[in-house]
Order: sequence, then structure tokens, then C-alpha cells
Amino acid sequence: MLSTILFLAVGLSSVNAASRSSFPAICTNSTLLIDSLDVLTTAQECTEIDGDLVIQYASDYPTAIEFPNLRSVFGSFLSINFNQDISVTRLSAPNLTAVGSDLYISRWVNLTTINMPVLTAVNRVRLNHLPALTSANFLSTLESIENNYEVTNTSLKEIKNDRLPYAVFVEIFDNKELEKLELTALTNASYNIALRRNKPGVEVSLPALKEVFYFELQRISGLEIPELESAIGHFIVNDSTVESLEAPKLQSVGLWYDPSISITNNRGLIIQNSGSLKSLSFPALEAVQLDLVIRNNSELQDISFPALKRVTGNIGLEGTFESLNFPELEKVGGIFSLGNDEAGFSCTELQGFKTNGTIRGAFSCPEYQELPARNSSQGSSKNEVEDWLKWTSPSTGFGSLRSTSAVVFAICISGVLLVL
Ligand SMILES: *[C@@H]1O[C@H](CO)[C@@H](O)[C@H](O)[C@H]1NC(C)=O
Ligand SMILES: *[C@@H]1O[C@H](CO)[C@@H](O)[C@H](O)[C@H]1NC(C)=O
Ligand SMILES: *[C@@H]1O[C@H](CO)[C@@H](O)[C@H](O)[C@H]1NC(C)=O
Ligand SMILES: *[C@@H]1O[C@H](CO)[C@@H](O)[C@H](O)[C@H]1NC(C)=O
Ligand SMILES: *[C@@H]1O[C@H](CO)[C@@H](O)[C@H](O)[C@H]1NC(C)=O
Ligand SMILES: *[C@@H]1O[C@H](CO)[C@@H](O)[C@H](O)[C@H]1NC(C)=O
Ligand SMILES: *[C@@H]1O[C@H](CO)[C@@H](O)[C@H](O)[C@H]1NC(C)=O
Ligand SMILES: *[C@@H]1O[C@H](CO)[C@@H](O)[C@H](O)[C@H]1NC(C)=O
Ligand SMILES: *[C@@H]1O[C@H](CO)[C@@H](O)[C@H](O)[C@H]1NC(C)=O
Repeated sequence: MLSTILFLAVGLSSVNAASRSSFPAICTNSTLLIDSLDVLTTAQECTEIDGDLVIQYASDYPTAIEFPNLRSVFGSFLSINFNQDISVTRLSAPNLTAVGSDLYISRWVNLTTINMPVLTAVNRVRLNHLPALTSANFLSTLESIENNYEVTNTSLKEIKNDRLPYAVFVEIFDNKELEKLELTALTNASYNIALRRNKPGVEVSLPALKEVFYFELQRISGLEIPELESAIGHFIVNDSTVESLEAPKLQSVGLWYDPSISITNNRGLIIQNSGSLKSLSFPALEAVQLDLVIRNNSELQDISFPALKRVTGNIGLEGTFESLNFPELEKVGGIFSLGNDEAGFSCTELQGFKTNGTIRGAFSCPEYQELPARNSSQGSSKNEVEDWLKWTSPSTGFGSLRSTSAVVFAICISGVLLVL
């Protein structure tokens, strides 16, 4: 009886092992912890790892670590060493195709290469504190990700992927050598796409992107978003060297229809501190939930939002503008503040938007008035939203009449300047 059971058990486990050829027992550990060359050597035989693979510091690792047989890790592939820096320069898993949970490598200060050329599926990618990293081929081979695509503090020059359709977070921070971010298959980033503190002048290409929640771009020199229709949370371009910004299909920034939605992090449409910016093109933009802010872009002279109807928050514009064009504007929930240093700029026509009730809050021109701080508590957001939904501006009251007689509103203060 006992022998039959033993036989069965042995038989099952050998079938199991044979089918996966995962001979060392540690391959089935819920956590396979590598903390010495000995354990590493055994783990290198695994073709599959059932649990998490965790690599910790050891003094006797070689300079290159390879997992030649490894095809999948069902848990996470982790190395987040907080006590002692690992001196390995190359990490390779040439046959690894899938990691069930996180692929998280951090603080390998001398790591230059991660070689995982056939890796296609991961739940979350997190690379950080890898200042020597110049090559990570799996970033390009990934075809599916359920959560983060996060690359922070590396020396990568380019991050390119033409297969990944979706991610929740795309966070690209502190990459001192980065010149290009190109995610050509990405159609949707449901939490954010954010670039911060990278090398100044990153070229960003997102040719398939249709929808993103928070969109935050810092230190970019170019932006390609021909298909973007909606930035649900906000759209921020800051501290950049872009010469033009074009969002031909962008219809709305900010979501503000559901009173239960907190607007805590939603900032609206903000374009600022970009001294090379000469032109803006947002021909389809109809609505900005929260604020529309354009400030400190010294070369920008013409502002035109030809389809913009609604701004639920404030409009804040500051610069040396020659023309402003808001032909369809119907409702501005907050204040309208325009600071214009251009001598001779006339505020009279803009004042008309205040006089006829299109602007609900205060009107300030040509002195810039700081926008009121927003109380972002859940309760007050709800009040603000409900208040907005109840408010009917004069133009929306006569919406149908108005659309047939839309008045193009433009101020051109100096034809002479334009000629010069
Ligand atoms: C594998 O799991 C066993 C049992 O939990 C544990 O004693 C052993 O240290 C683990 N080995 C490794 C390499 O993590
Ligand atoms: C790993 O992949 C290489 C080709 O890339 C192949 O020659 C080799 O047999 C594979 N090894 C295993 C254990 O699958
Ligand atoms: C990383 O490389 C530098 C330069 O070769 C060396 O001085 C340093 O000790 C290395 N760091 C580690 C953790 O091995
Ligand atoms: C990048 O990582 C290195 C190594 O951990 C660290 O010393 C450095 O401060 C990090 N840089 C940033 C900007 O976080
Ligand atoms: C983007 O992804 C979210 C979350 O999965 C989904 O709700 C939304 O419909 C997607 N949007 C588009 C345009 O595919
Ligand atoms: C713009 O960038 C500056 C520094 O580069 C930063 O201090 C500021 O918080 C950023 N503002 C926004 C709205 O992102
Ligand atoms: C205005 O933008 C320039 C970059 O074009 C920047 O250097 C400067 O600090 C910004 N000014 C303010 C007050 O933020
Ligand atoms: C923000 O709004 C909440 C709820 O309406 C209120 O209790 C709180 O006092 C407000 N805070 C400020 C700073 O106005
Ligand atoms: C309000 O005034 C502005 C500026 O004069 C004008 O363009 C707009 O058509 C007016 N709207 C209504 C509803 O009268």
C-alpha cells in the first residue's frame, strides 16, 4: 500500500519534472533565493521557476550572470538589493519568454547589459538605480504587459518598442543619456505616460496612442501624437525645447462629468517654460476640464484654439502674444487671466467674454492674476463639479443660434511687427 503511494508520488513528480525538465528541487520553491555562487550554479539549471526568483548580494558572483536554460518564471524576477551593491555587469537569460509577475532590477550599479532577447510577457517592468545600463533588449521585445513599463535612472539612449499595445504606467525618469522614446504600438496607457528629469531634449514618438490618463512631458524636444483623442486626466508639457506641439485629433483633456470622480491630480492642459515653442496646433480640442494654462514660452506669439468650447476651470495665459483666437468659446467656469507684456495689446475684445457672461469668474488683463488655489478635497471637488453642471452660460443657452453665427475672435496688435 505504502509502496504504491510512494510509487505514484515518485511517478507523478518525475512526470512533472520531465515535462518541465526542472531538475533541481529549488526550481519549484515558492521563493528561490540566490545569495551565493553555489545556489546560482544550481539555479542555472532551472528551465522553469514556479515561484519568485530573488537575487541578493553575494561576494563571489562572476561579473556576468546567465540563466542559459530558463524559459519562464511564474512569479517575479527580482533583485532589489538595498544593503550592498551587486557588481555584476551583465545579466542574461537568453531563452526567457515570460515572467508572471514583476521583473524588477534595482541597484546593480555597474550593470551595463540586460540580455533577454526573447522575453515577450511580463506583468510589470521596473528598472531603477541602474546608472551604467546601456542595453536592455527586452524593452523592445515585450508584447504584453499588465502594469508598469518603468525605466528610471539608466544610461539607455533609446527606449523603443513596436509591439506593446497597452500599459498602465509608462514612467521614464532620470535617464541621463536618453534621446528617444518610441512606443509605436502603444494605443492606451490607462494610468499615465510621464517623462521627468531625463536628458534634456528627448524625442517622443507615440504614433498609435489614442488614450492616456495623465500625460506629463518634461524636457522633450519633439512630440508625435497624431492619433491622440483624449488625455483623461491632464496634459502637461513643461521645461521643454519643442518648437511645435501638434495634437490634431485631441478632443478633450480632463474628465469631469461624474461627480463622484475626484479631481485631485487632474491639472488640465498646461504648457509652460518652453522657450523654443513657436506654434501650437490643437484644432479638434473642444473641452478642457480644469485649467488651461500657457505661460513662459517666450517665442510663442499666436494662440488659437479653434474648436474650444468649454474650460471648466480657469484660463491663465502669460507671454508676449500677438493674437489670441477662441472663436467657439462658450463657458469658462473660473477666472480668465491674461498677462501680456506686448506693448499696445488690447484687452477690450476679450473683455467682451466677461461682459456677456461666457467667463464666470474674474477677468484680468493685461496684468496676470495668479490662478486661485484649488481645494482638492473630495467634497469640494464634488461641489465644484455639481456647481459647474448647474451653471448655464448665456451662450450655451442659445447654443443652436450661436453655432450658425460663430464669430471668429482674434486680436492682431501689430501688423508692422509681423511684416518685420
Ligand atoms: C527552497 O525552499 C526550502 C523550503 O522552503 C528552503 O529551505 C530553501 O532555503 C529554499 N532554497 C532556496 C535556494 O531558496
Ligand atoms: C536557448 O536558445 C538557444 C537559441 O537561442 C538554443 O540554441 C538553445 O537550445 C536554447 N536552450 C534551451 C535550454 O532551451
Ligand atoms: C563599479 O565599478 C567601479 C569602476 O570600475 C568600481 O570602482 C566599483 O567598485 C564598482 N562597484 C561595485 C559595486 O562593484
Ligand atoms: C541613480 O542611481 C545611483 C545608484 O543607486 C544613485 O547613486 C543615484 O543617486 C541615482 N540618481 C538619481 C537621480 O536618482
Ligand atoms: C484603455 O484602457 C482602459 C483600461 O483597460 C479601458 O477602460 C479603456 O476603454 C481603454 N481605452 C481605449 C481607447 O482603448
Ligand atoms: C515644471 O518643471 C519644473 C522644473 O523643471 C518643476 O519645478 C515644476 O514643478 C514643473 N511643473 C509642472 C506643472 O510639471
Ligand atoms: C521660463 O522658461 C525658461 C525656459 O525657457 C526657464 O529657464 C525659466 O526658469 C522659466 N521661468 C520661470 C519663472 O519659471
Ligand atoms: C476644502 O473643502 C472641504 C469640503 O468642502 C472643506 O471642509 C475644507 O475646509 C476646504 N479647505 C480649504 C483649505 O478651503
Ligand atoms: C461673447 O463675447 C465674445 C467676445 O466679444 C464673442 O466672441 C462671443 O461670441 C460672445 N458670446 C455670446 C454668447 O454673445
